[in-house]
Amino acid sequence: MSHEVDVVRAVADLRGRVRYWRDQGLGVALVPTMGALHRGHMSLIAQALETADRVVASIFVNPIQFGPGEDFSRYPRQEAEDAAMLSKAGCHLLFAPQVAEMYPDGFATQVRVAGLTEGLCGAARPGHFDGVTTVVAKLMLQVQPDIALFGEKDYQQLAVIRRMVCDLDIPVSVVGVGIVREEDGLALSSRNAYLSAEQRAIAPALYRTLCATAEAIAAGRPASEACAAAARTLVEAGFESVDYVEAREADSLAPVEIPVRPSRLLAAARLGTTRLIDNVALIPAA
Ligand code: PAF
Repeated sequence: MSHEVDVVRAVADLRGRVRYWRDQGLGVALVPTMGALHRGHMSLIAQALETADRVVASIFVNPIQFGPGEDFSRYPRQEAEDAAMLSKAGCHLLFAPQVAEMYPDGFATQVRVAGLTEGLCGAARPGHFDGVTTVVAKLMLQVQPDIALFGEKDYQQLAVIRRMVCDLDIPVSVVGVGIVREEDGLALSSRNAYLSAEQRAIAPALYRTLCATAEAIAAGRPASEACAAAARTLVEAGFESVDYVEAREADSLAPVEIPVRPSRLLAAARLGTTRLIDNVALIPAA
């Protein structure tokens, strides 16, 4: 029988719980999420439980990482189901603050990573990564974990968070966890719930196209040419528009034409109002 996960909503209570564990010499992992949990999040929790004695998951739909007209108000909120999944998985603590706890009146600070945030998703979602780094910095300072785990599906987010942690000397090891997919290849995402049946049937073309494009690049086709062809393929498959298909170095996210170092192929494309992102390794990191 699994234990019901404890839920705290105040930073002071969170700190008290973590201090108690620290006094016993226990290691702590943090898994930040926005809820609407799926098997992808559960793989983060499973990996966290393998590495640390105690696991804190956070659920916070962070308003400052959504732009005007984005899906903040309709983002799925299902805390009871999420808490049940976390309990079953053996997560020790759920931190689920209200907006006023994270951003009280007078809140005026922003954490911003330059460069890495400017292309790819940053181009279509101005300010998005500033919201992500601000909330992740706060969560890391609130929990002060040994490790924090993030999914590789949001690959640019992971690179930006690694940069922030390094630049600000935050004493947390950032761990990237591989993408979990449906049987047809679609990367798991809380936003997949927005897809109609027709859109859901088109969606796996994103991963299929990335795989075929990665193969073409590995066979010597210049990345810019292969990525342009991939964008056309996605539109032919039924995507309304393609924000980008790009080959980038794994850490710096610098553009790559013929990959020789660890690098990724990344894409974002739209089905109706839903924006799907995905990525595959061109040359995997060691
Ligand atoms: O990837 C997410 O779910 C969010 O961007 C994160 C890291 C929890 C910050 O709000």
